[in-house]
Amino acid sequence: MNPLPGFRDFYPDDCAKRNHILDHWKRTATRYGFSEYDGPNLESVDVYKKKSGGELLGQLFDFIDKGDRHVALRPEMTPTLARMIVARERDFKKPMKWFCAPTFFRYEKQQRGRLREFLQLNCDIIGDPSDFADAELLALAIDVLRDLGLSSSDFVVRLSDREAWTNFAARHAITGERFSAFLALIDKLERMTPADAESKLQPFGVTLDAVRSFIANPGDAAPRLDAILKNLAARGLGDFVSVDLTIVRGLAYYTGMVFEVFDRAKNERALAGGGRYDTLIETMSDGRIRLPALGFGMGDVVLGNLIQETPAAREKRDDWLSQAASLDAFIIIAAPERTAEALATVQKLRDSGLRVDYGAPGEKVGKQFQAAEHKRSVHAIVIGSEFPSLKVKHLASRTEREATPDTLLSALQCTSI
Ligand code: HAM
Repeated sequence: MNPLPGFRDFYPDDCAKRNHILDHWKRTATRYGFSEYDGPNLESVDVYKKKSGGELLGQLFDFIDKGDRHVALRPEMTPTLARMIVARERDFKKPMKWFCAPTFFRYEKQQRGRLREFLQLNCDIIGDPSDFADAELLALAIDVLRDLGLSSSDFVVRLSDREAWTNFAARHAITGERFSAFLALIDKLERMTPADAESKLQPFGVTLDAVRSFIANPGDAAPRLDAILKNLAARGLGDFVSVDLTIVRGLAYYTGMVFEVFDRAKNERALAGGGRYDTLIETMSDGRIRLPALGFGMGDVVLGNLIQETPAAREKRDDWLSQAASLDAFIIIAAPERTAEALATVQKLRDSGLRVDYGAPGEKVGKQFQAAEHKRSVHAIVIGSEFPSLKVKHLASRTEREATPDTLLSALQCTSI
């Protein structure tokens, strides 16, 4: 039997690749001073109903539980994060920089880069209205990818500002509900034929030409973006970003700066997306708490594809994988009557924190050496009839030295140099 469509089994090799991504996500978020948090896998559907909006509501994995509650597996983190902040807002010093990297569920059509269960790194800054925070978040998104061995020739952050579209819409008297519908249309414009786009824009009283020339030349409609770009340039990250007003984001709660990250070759769906949602916490708290916020989500699926297809990133990953899978020592039991001494040695080395495995007593020594190589062990330790005299072999250099149980730990350090 196979797993359900859009769900994955993680055999050890797949798990190692997943850990590689998780490890780098967490490492970079921590380097930026973010603290890890988490929430429940299951929420009341109400949490998403008003807050997420857009296509996401049609993609909920929802059901009625045994207590007659309408619940959904989490399709995204942001409404949960807002709910958690509303519950304990006073307990945290602002601004808060929080991250998590759990599993999410969306009933999407299965396609390249999109599954029904996926991991998503979420990084959010709460309580900072400045464009400094906008740039800090973008720098983090960029550095997560740089840390994985991806460069500015592999991906680009397409940066935009919903404020620019608010100004444009105000000039064309598109307000309220119509504005949300207008934004949803701009979000899809790139994927439409010109004739289709023209006819969909008509009810809003704007032409495709007007929209296109605004995108090509927004003038001073988005002044905040200049400050963000300057900030990123000062960090040496200017090459990773380009302003692109076609990005408005599909989710309903965004208010200002928004962005999506794409591979330069345009072979993949979005790698990450996010932006400001300055009013979500206010809505969630029925007006009680006003806290500006911003964040992004980055999935593991497109990212895994891009790493696989980018030689520098793939090589870096493979080094990480072989390091993660390796052993410090593999004990070769060359004389079965010394099995007890071999086990004592295994235990002693494991107690000292080393990664250690051992061969089957009675198996040919050559076979045991093969097992040591297969397990990518740095050393092989041969325990034979000469015990307590042992042989320590450094497998890569083929160098060998004698040791005893007492001198073994220092012998392992010497031969590995
Ligand atoms: P989103 O654009 O819906 O934003 O998702 C962000 C990223 O999650 C996508 O760019 C993609 O990498 C990944 N992703 C989304 N759906 C799938 C899927 N079905 N399969 C695989 N990967 C997927 C959000 O979720 C916002 N809550 C992000 C955010 C955090 N905004 C503020 N803070």
